[in-house]
Amino acid sequence: MPGSVFALMDAAKGRARAAGLSVIDLSIGSSDQNPPEPALEALREATRDPQTYRYPLFSDTRPLREAAAAYLGRRFGLRLDAETELLPLIGAQEGLAHLLLAVTDPGDTLLLPDPCYPPYLGAVAVAGLSVVTLPLPPERGFLPDLSAVPKDIHPRALLLNYPNNPTSAVADAAFFREVAEWCRARGTLLIHDHPYAELTFGDYRAPSALEAGTEGVVELHSLSKTHHLGGFRVGFAAGDRHAVAALARVKGAVDFHPYLGIQRAAAVALGLPDEVSRAGARIFEARRDALVPALREIGWEVALPQASMYVWARVPGLTDSVTYAVRAAETTGVALSPGQAFGEQGEGFVRFALVQPPEVLGEAARRLATVPVSVEPTLQPVAP
Ligand SMILES: Cc1ncc(COP(=O)(O)O)c(C=O)c1O
Repeated sequence: MPGSVFALMDAAKGRARAAGLSVIDLSIGSSDQNPPEPALEALREATRDPQTYRYPLFSDTRPLREAAAAYLGRRFGLRLDAETELLPLIGAQEGLAHLLLAVTDPGDTLLLPDPCYPPYLGAVAVAGLSVVTLPLPPERGFLPDLSAVPKDIHPRALLLNYPNNPTSAVADAAFFREVAEWCRARGTLLIHDHPYAELTFGDYRAPSALEAGTEGVVELHSLSKTHHLGGFRVGFAAGDRHAVAALARVKGAVDFHPYLGIQRAAAVALGLPDEVSRAGARIFEARRDALVPALREIGWEVALPQASMYVWARVPGLTDSVTYAVRAAETTGVALSPGQAFGEQGEGFVRFALVQPPEVLGEAARRLATVPVSVEPTLQPVAP
């Protein structure tokens, strides 16, 4: 959420607590699950190894780069060169901000979806980019229509994210092939932010944009959601070797890669059987299965997400999601993210982060049934 909306929601939660309400905070998408034990054990062991105490150099990142390449091979059938096509990140968010600095010049155009993960806007501002908005219409399954991009626009990069935050929408491999082709024809770098790659439900498995080829495509992976390592700050960039090399040059001026112990933990996590991340995903799936019917019961229009840790719900009759979310928090203790915080196209929606057990989510829906969507303006005395 942009700082101002975040502050408003924080204050509303504070007022709810002061009024004696129990707060159900569904406004922040931070996993409440624990990282896999073997990853934690690798980190504990690393802290006892003095070899990990020094600055990690690029060559020290090789085991994590190889683990990432093996994961991408096993999971998506990709064959990436760990030396030139992979780079550890201090989280996908760090990676994106530095990637934009690395592959663009100030004033370049970036195609950015609306709605989108709000920190994208900060990364765009840091890089001094000019944004052309790509609406994600609900009737297109929240996929952009690239044929609507004016022909005289020459974007340096296009940023996408599926499974999507905030909409939970998913995209198939054919979509990525089409988008990659569109980008290659224009010399536009396709950046795919992929932190929810393993947070998928039922038989659905998310593809990688790199299945469309690595040339002109960079994908940002994160262990924050897939392995619940959000606080450890670790992920990796994969794909186009020129973009990865440019990113490495920028990062070389800024950081020394994640702590080696965290790299070892991440490498262990990436090597675990798929069942480990599947089990984590099933926890979010059970929560989805509790919240969606409960919201439909109170008359809301909600699709059943196939992935991510969010439910994106259109609230019937809603025109001011920020006022609504503040009112809901103050009067019921249920804290949500207002759709408007994710962009203009998000107005009329709210986002639930599935970060509470199923029974608490059901309770949240029941409380929301009591919140008026719009409040009649206070009657002003009529002047005589
Ligand atoms: C779309 C998206 N990208 C990136 C991130 C942050 O990932 P990381 O923790 O790896 O920086 C998030 C976290 O919510 C996200 O939703």
